[in-house]
Amino acid sequence: MSDQYSVLGSAPTKKDLQKLSPDNVHVQIEGLTAGYGKMEILHDFDLMVSKAQSLCLIGPNGAGKSTILHSIYGFTNIFSGKISIDGKDITNLTPAEKLTSVGIAYILQDNSVFPDMTVEENLLMGGYAKDKVEESYEEAQRVLDKYERLKNRRNQPAKVLSGGERRLLEISRALVMKPSVLLVDEPSIGLEPRYIDMVFEILRDLQQNEKKTIILVEQNAKKGLEFADNGYVLVSGQTAIVGKGDELLENPDVGRLFLGG
Ligand SMILES: Nc1ncnc2c1ncn2[C@@H]1O[C@H](COP(=O)(O)OP(=O)(O)OP(=O)(O)O)[C@@H](O)[C@H]1O
Ligand SMILES: [Mg+2]
Repeated sequence: MSDQYSVLGSAPTKKDLQKLSPDNVHVQIEGLTAGYGKMEILHDFDLMVSKAQSLCLIGPNGAGKSTILHSIYGFTNIFSGKISIDGKDITNLTPAEKLTSVGIAYILQDNSVFPDMTVEENLLMGGYAKDKVEESYEEAQRVLDKYERLKNRRNQPAKVLSGGERRLLEISRALVMKPSVLLVDEPSIGLEPRYIDMVFEILRDLQQNEKKTIILVEQNAKKGLEFADNGYVLVSGQTAIVGKGDELLENPDVGRLFLGG
């Protein structure tokens, strides 16, 4: 751990994680060591999130936050450890299997819409892995009924959308697969403040009303911790502090290092 962050003290224990997610654990990572090629980025990493809970990962650039999401989705090399959903070991499933049979959706950071396809076609792309095409149409329709902003532009190419609407399309495209877990990397990046608030309201609705379990990475630590039930501070591939989102907002070390306080 680099000097600047050494004040953060000793690593949290499994008990600390359990206290934050005491029952109905939906996503669990135990002793994960993972990286890219032969390079190890995450070292003996643990995580717990209950069903319909939200967890925000914060930490300096290069700490390994995105790598945690990549590992859950299946984009990294896993050297040891275990990832499970509702107690079922999913460590070695492919991303496609995770999307279709376990319900994990990974929402890409920034600009993943197809600009020349219509809004509706973009939504239907979200269902590409579904066996039955009709189901994609049904889900796309449900999403359009839910989000007026998208419905009004369903037949227009996605490139006409504003930045906030585009982010909304990226999130709702993932919903077409009816996932139970949303992995969201930097939802606020590149957005104006009013759209940032909109994106967090959408995520809150999905958590509270559709019982989605949300794991997000957020550079805007204040927004992320205000939103999430729990937060983990990651430094050099290891967890340095854990707590409820509002506790971390009050934590002076977190404030100084990550909230510009
Ligand atoms: N596809 C990849 N191949 C090789 N190394 C990678 C790859 N993606 C990330 N890394 C390396 O892994 C380390 C952790 O990167 P990661 O993207 O997880 O950090 P992060 O905490 O998300 O940082 P940021 O806040 O900048 O997004 C970095 O040293 C990075 O260079
Ligand atoms: Mg990242």
